[in-house]
Amino acid sequence: MYKNFLILLLFLHTSLLANEGETLFKTYCWGCHHQTSMAFGPSFQQIANTRNSGEIIAQIVDPTNTAITLGYERSAMPAFNRLTSEQLQALTSYIQSFKD
Ligand code: HEC
Repeated sequence: MYKNFLILLLFLHTSLLANEGETLFKTYCWGCHHQTSMAFGPSFQQIANTRNSGEIIAQIVDPTNTAITLGYERSAMPAFNRLTSEQLQALTSYIQSFKD
């Protein structure tokens, strides 16, 4: 019984995070990144297939430095350094859900 409750809580937490990730994506990223097609920046699907969570989080908070490491000449992406670590995690999980 207690165990089922924990599993339910875990499930709720995971789906809330996924929801939060989608909301954050639509608020901050949608103008330049689309889910599956190239926009101003690469699609989330392409990112999910080629980058790990460390690279994704680094790019969100400090694109000027990370973009060079990822192979770009310079960065045209603004830094989002006011997001909490939970928000960063939610966004990253959302991006990674596009992996195929
Ligand atoms: C003003 C446009 C713009 C916005 C807004 C933007 N990005 Fe970007 N993003 C880019 C561009 C352009 C690149 C290509 C590399 C660079 O210029 O830094 C990029 C690159 C990335 C990469 C690495 C791409 C790779 O090669 O794997 C990630 C991850 C990323 N963005 C995530 C996000 C997330 C998450 C958000 C929202 C919080 C966001 N971006 C908002 C323009 C944007």
